[in-house]
Amino acid sequence: VTEPDLVGRHVVVTAGGTREPLDPVRFLGNRSSGKQGYALARTAAARGARVTLIEANTGLPDPAGVDVVRIGTAVQLREAVLKAAPDADVVVMAAAVADFRPENYATGKIKKKDGQEPEPIVLVRNPDILAEISADRSRPGQMIVGFAAETDDVLANGRAKLARKGCDLLVVNEVGERKTFGSEENEAVVLGADGSETPVPYGPKEALAETVWDLVASRLG
Ligand code: PMT
Repeated sequence: VTEPDLVGRHVVVTAGGTREPLDPVRFLGNRSSGKQGYALARTAAARGARVTLIEANTGLPDPAGVDVVRIGTAVQLREAVLKAAPDADVVVMAAAVADFRPENYATGKIKKKDGQEPEPIVLVRNPDILAEISADRSRPGQMIVGFAAETDDVLANGRAKLARKGCDLLVVNEVGERKTFGSEENEAVVLGADGSETPVPYGPKEALAETVWDLVASRLG
């Protein structure tokens, strides 16, 4: 039985993977399908929250009763999050955000020229949205939840990331070419800024989402 413990709360969830264009045809992207973020959005709505879902390139259908905002790049994601956050009780950053983007965008398709070496791609840093909203706290008592996608030293990297980003909860999950990305299941440890560690065993992404909302609801009071 789902408890309506998020009634009266506005939650913002990000999902999917940003794409950083090189030209009208190519982009730098990642393997996020958006399934974990959508599971968070669906379960929050089932628990009574008003949900704003900011999605990047998922191609997934809109969940019932959820406001969906579609964006493409990390810079566009930042704009959408900063617009929605001041009205949110909770922000959950489940989207996989590109840390870097190509410095230059070619307005026409980049051509390969006979006998010429390929041009190197120069990258510049993208804004760190999670760190920015964690420092801002545009609304008193607002809770901010981040994710950490790690391939090695998963927990140690997660703990360091929690300290660096300044969010309240950080969901640490292991990823790989065929691990977590795109699958129906996940396994994680949810780290709290208060030192708590909540392991979530391998299971449906909904189950991890419910644990996140349990931890959020108990902390919102
Ligand atoms: O979408 P699925 O296929 O279901 O897969 C789920 C998932 C693996 C994408 C998800 O569970 C997950 O781990 N999402 C976060 C991916 C990520 O970007 O992790 P990170 O460790 O690189 O970033 C840490 C946190 O900072 C994340 O909350 C991220 O949203 C945020 N971030 C990162 C970079 C940046 N420039 N700005 C950010 O806000």
